[in-house]
Amino acid sequence: MKIALYPGTFDPITYGHIDVIERAREIFDKVIVTVAHNTSKQPMFTDEERVKMIREVVRKFNNVEVKCFGGLLVTFARKNHATAIVRGLRAVSDFEYEFQMALTNRKLADTITTVFLMPHEKYTYLNSSIVREIATFGGDISEFVPPSVRRHLMKKFKLTTSF
Ligand code: COA
Repeated sequence: MKIALYPGTFDPITYGHIDVIERAREIFDKVIVTVAHNTSKQPMFTDEERVKMIREVVRKFNNVEVKCFGGLLVTFARKNHATAIVRGLRAVSDFEYEFQMALTNRKLADTITTVFLMPHEKYTYLNSSIVREIATFGGDISEFVPPSVRRHLMKKFKLTTSF
């Protein structure tokens, strides 16, 4: 059974992430979407909230699980018998950071391979910060996140009108 982790901050999950999950689940027997800790980020949503939001979105996929982990990614990969780490590459600007992370993870655990998948080009510009920023000012984020995630954002910002 080929198991892959798809790690990220997912603050919140967007259609771009979902696109990568859909591609990964076609390649691997099981994909574990892993809410991991990036020490340079202070997420707006708690670990539990992000896990809940992702679970609501991936419920329809029979080979996708969602977990949260606070330590080293390779440790979590070994614990879950994962042999691959999936990362999305949206543009050349993603490459340097991803390259460094992939090589570091390989240094830490050379049996775990990083696999890069390209989400659809319509998501090239998208990231979670943009979604949070638009939501902060009550803008329309319906093209970026599923309705369930939109509801969580509205609740977070105590918005009553639908964007
Ligand atoms: N569609 C839309 N947006 C995407 C995307 C896609 N397909 N892929 C990435 N992004 C966005 C994210 O939303 C995020 O946006 P933001 O910066 O505005 O929040 C940004 O691109 C990249 O973030 P993400 O994919 O969440 O990765 P990250 O850089 O925050 O996560 C971890 C990095 C959590 C995977 C990494 O820090 C980690 O592995 N931590 C565990 C500790 C560890 O093992 N460290 C050693 C690693 S070398």
